[in-house]
Parts: sequence; C-alpha cells; structure tokens
Amino acid sequence: MPGPDTSVYPPPPAHIAIIMDGNGRWATARGLPRTAGHKKGVDAVRQVIEGAREMGVRYLTLYSFSTENWSRPEDEVSTLMQLLGFYLRGEIARLHKNGIRFRVIGDRSRLSNDIQALINNAEGLTEANTDMTLVLALSYGGRQELVDAARALAVAVEKGEMTPADITPDSFARHLTTGGDIPDPDLMIRTSGEKRISNFLLWQLAYAELVFLDTLWPDFTKRDLEDAIREYHRRDRRFGATAGSR
Ligand code: IPE
Ligand code: IPE
Ligand code: MG
Repeated sequence: MPGPDTSVYPPPPAHIAIIMDGNGRWATARGLPRTAGHKKGVDAVRQVIEGAREMGVRYLTLYSFSTENWSRPEDEVSTLMQLLGFYLRGEIARLHKNGIRFRVIGDRSRLSNDIQALINNAEGLTEANTDMTLVLALSYGGRQELVDAARALAVAVEKGEMTPADITPDSFARHLTTGGDIPDPDLMIRTSGEKRISNFLLWQLAYAELVFLDTLWPDFTKRDLEDAIREYHRRDRRFGATAGSR
C-alpha cells in the first residue's frame, strides 16, 4: 500500500486519541436496540483506522471499553465482547497487511480467555510493523493505570531497586501501560457532544488539544477526522510557555 499523500493532507498530529461515544443514542434515535449502534460503530472504526493511516498518523488510540463500562447490563457487555471477538478475528490479517502494529492497553485479565488469546496473537503478529500503531483501550481506566504505576514504583522502592527520589515524571511515565514506546496524544477527539474525559488517559492527555464533536460515533467519517485535524492546526500549543519563550 502506498504511504500517506502529503500533497493532499497537512502533516497530521503524531498521536490521535478518540473517545468513540454515542453508539447507543445513534440506535435509540432510529428505534433500534443499543447494540445496533455498537455494530454500526465498528464500521466507523474501520474507516477511521484507514483514514488515519492514509493521512500519516503515527499512533491512533481508540477508547473501546472502559473499566466503568463493565457495569452496563450483562447483555450489552456480552454483545460488545462478541463484536470485539468478531472484529479481532476478521480484521487482524488486514491490519497486518497494511503495516499496522496492534496494541491493547487496559486490564485484559477481565477479558475472556478467547479474546486474550486473540489479542496476544495480534500483538505478536504485528509487533514489527511500522506504518502506524493502533492502540485499543479495552477494559481501560486512567485511575487504575495510575494506581498500578504507583504500586509498581512502591514495590521497586521496597526491593531497594530505586529510591523515592528516583520517582520523577519520566520514571513514572515509563511505568504506565503506554510507557516507553507510545508518545502522549497530541489531539483527543470525543464524539457525541459529551465534554468530559471519562477516565481516559488521565496522565497522557496533560497537554493534548481537545476537540469535542456533536457527531455520534457511528456517523463519524474520514471527513470528520480531517476536520478535527484542521481544527488542531488552528490551535496554538504553548505548553505553559509564552509565544516568545518557546
Ligand atoms: C460508546 O457509545 C461505546 C461504548 C462506550 C462501549 P455508548 O454506548 O456510550 O453510546 P451512548 O453514549 O449511550 O449514546
Ligand atoms: C466513554 O464513554 C468510554 C468509551 C467510549 C469506551 P461512556 O459513554 O462510557 O462515558 P460516560 O458514561 O458518558 O462518561
Ligand atoms: Mg456513551
């Protein structure tokens, strides 16, 4: 597959993270069960992955299922897990063919053995791919991730492998699930009109530009992604400095 066409697209942010929200409302508005919205949402996932890759995005993180989403009705959770299984079975070969590295962040121990095996295989198969990294946040919660990092650091101190003074923003970040090889998102998009973070990447979003769209996730297209990138380019990222001091 050819690389991104830079004559068509301005250079995109390196890492885009998306809270894919509004599947349920999309379905309810059509008199359909919420699960119909989740099914349609999978088509939007395919489009956005393809679009991001074509535009030259290096990292795309999709919030697919939060730790809090486990508290939804059992039939909705089981439909979401079924869709995830279908998606992984059907899509991994294509991702691999397109040079995409696949990663999962979140508490995968809560997922079924089948799904854990699919994820492990997909991560192994695509490990050396370099065109784009696709990160699925699954059974993911930002607070849990921070607590896990704090605990790992406490254990390392207890074992004498490091001292409290060695705990710095850099060493802390290395203990997160994105630690080491996934840079912080530059742009975070949330669909569906909600304007909150909902426990997504609490540490990593510190300086991301936030774009909130009214579009419901199943209606999200490559065009919406392009528009969000254009909005990103209109922002002035100061990182706390003043324009002159950067
Ligand atoms: C996002 O859509 C998908 C998941 C959270 C898994 P929702 O299911 O949250 O849809 P709304 O927000 O109820 O419309
Ligand atoms: C956030 O959406 C989680 C995902 C999109 C996976 P929710 O619909 O669960 O968030 P709230 O409940 O509106 O905050
Ligand atoms: Mg929602």
